[in-house]
Amino acid sequence: MFCHQKRERKRGTGCGRIGNRRSARLDLFTTYFAEPCAPLLCALRVAVMERSAGGGGSGLLRLRALGFTLAVASIGSAAAITRRDFPEGFVFGAGTSAFQVEGAWDEDGKKPSIWDTLCSGPRHRRCHCRPVSQVQGTLVSKLNELEDVKLMHEMGLDAYRFSIAWTRIIPDGRGAVNPKGLEYYNNLIDELLRYVSFPNLSYRLTDELPAASGIQPHVTIYHFDLPQALQDEYDGVLSPRFIDDFTAYAEVCFRSFGDRVKHWTTLNEPNIEPLGGFDLGFLPPRRCSSPFGYACNGGNSTTEPYIAAHHLLIAHASTVSLYRVKYQATQGGQIGIVFLAFWYEPSTRKPKDVAAAGRMMDFSLGWFLHPLVYGDYPAVMRRNAGSRLPTLTDEVSARVRGSFDFVGINHYGALEVEADLSQLKQTLRDYTADTAAKILTFPFQSLTKQLGLGIQSNEAPSSMQKLLDYLKLKYRNPPVVIYENGVGDKPDPSGRFVTDDEFRTHYLQGYIEATLLSIRNGSNVHGYFVWSFMDVFELLFAYRFRFGLYGVDFGAEEKTRYARHSAQWYAGFLHGGELRPATPSLSSIRTYIL
Ligand code: NOJ
Repeated sequence: MFCHQKRERKRGTGCGRIGNRRSARLDLFTTYFAEPCAPLLCALRVAVMERSAGGGGSGLLRLRALGFTLAVASIGSAAAITRRDFPEGFVFGAGTSAFQVEGAWDEDGKKPSIWDTLCSGPRHRRCHCRPVSQVQGTLVSKLNELEDVKLMHEMGLDAYRFSIAWTRIIPDGRGAVNPKGLEYYNNLIDELLRYVSFPNLSYRLTDELPAASGIQPHVTIYHFDLPQALQDEYDGVLSPRFIDDFTAYAEVCFRSFGDRVKHWTTLNEPNIEPLGGFDLGFLPPRRCSSPFGYACNGGNSTTEPYIAAHHLLIAHASTVSLYRVKYQATQGGQIGIVFLAFWYEPSTRKPKDVAAAGRMMDFSLGWFLHPLVYGDYPAVMRRNAGSRLPTLTDEVSARVRGSFDFVGINHYGALEVEADLSQLKQTLRDYTADTAAKILTFPFQSLTKQLGLGIQSNEAPSSMQKLLDYLKLKYRNPPVVIYENGVGDKPDPSGRFVTDDEFRTHYLQGYIEATLLSIRNGSNVHGYFVWSFMDVFELLFAYRFRFGLYGVDFGAEEKTRYARHSAQWYAGFLHGGELRPATPSLSSIRTYIL
């Protein structure tokens, strides 16, 4: 399926009160958010604290400036891994998403998404959640779009994952299409396809685009940024009306870009949006109910997460069905969906903790993957959530089952879990209480620890193997693309550019090796994408946590990019070097740009 890659290319606080009972989970949060926080983070922090307390549960180093194209590491031992070890057609890429990089949130006809609204409110301006002041008017991606694509090419990316901002294309969420929005994405896609690589030659085409060339666009249709207009009109994903509006928007994307885009994903992390947006309420539209969330705009945490997810699932299936009926045969693309997929590790070998970890897998990944593969929600969800979990009628179930060509996963490691069956005794339960499990580690714990230590824990990459094995055994080994894997760090408080991110290189090396081992063990993996290509506005941490291979100087008007160590290493690997080169050296760089 992922065979568009040319053969030649295969070479290579102060906010909130703390409860009395502290837990590991609470300590992690207080440590991590020790500084005054944005309301977004305050909400998250307080929500977690309440739950924990028993409440319910220099220099610029630019590769381009150095004429960087090829960084080929020395040949090492026979066991050394290079990209040639991956199956033919395997795609290596990196990604971003629209809201997190584009800026220009109200320019050229674009209207606000729920994220623009969240981040432009007066309360949010004061704190760390500042995408408007940081991004608005800078046109981060627009100004740099052409240069970014050049950097991607020089890095050797086979593919770039990005998302389309719904309100740039259809400003009111439904109805009139904005030609300026189409133009923006058309330019980006064309620019990606213009770059062609051969073993000893790379160039940018100036004339017509060949049928299969360039950097493949892998496009996410929806990455959390729901049109505010639809939120206002009918509560967005809480209404079944979302299904038709989303499908119609997706059709505009297929019609406008499908001649060139061959890899689509409908939704990014629909297994997270209902939790952040409708249970704990720390993500827009910030709905939740007491005692499960904090300072929300109405909501019902016991039911709404399940309803939102249900509509997202059906909207996905309806879009895939449309694509298959009207576009796939002529456009020849593939369509999937992307999930946040932590591996849940039992804290002990006790059967109850092992069962709790299994439940977490069902509640997180199975919530969507079970219906997609077997046509219904996991039995344990039905048991624990009862009638609060919507029913998939026979007709809907048949539409949902099999509605994917591949599964995208965003994988950041493992979370430790123990059983907490007492939660099932509560009569008022939200999604989290329904899991009857307690997560003992905060998602970014390994990262913060790792920041202290300077390297990633050795065991962590095995979470990728466990996850891929799980997909193989439980979900019939679907074609998988790893759409996000990466690690964040804090920016230097002095504003100095941080280029020495060997810990990131080390992290990525571990996960890429784990991916290869899984493939050798029979997993059906077709691609691997680093999150993120460059620093982005991080959803929970704003600009206080950076994931980029490329750093971004957010203080500069042009938002200048600078290459980190990890960018150089990834480029070396993608150009045929070893996964773990002995001495990655810029002296081996040679330029072939014509
Ligand atoms: C999940 C999301 O898809 C992305 O938007 C976010 O920046 C990263 N993972 C890191 O948290």
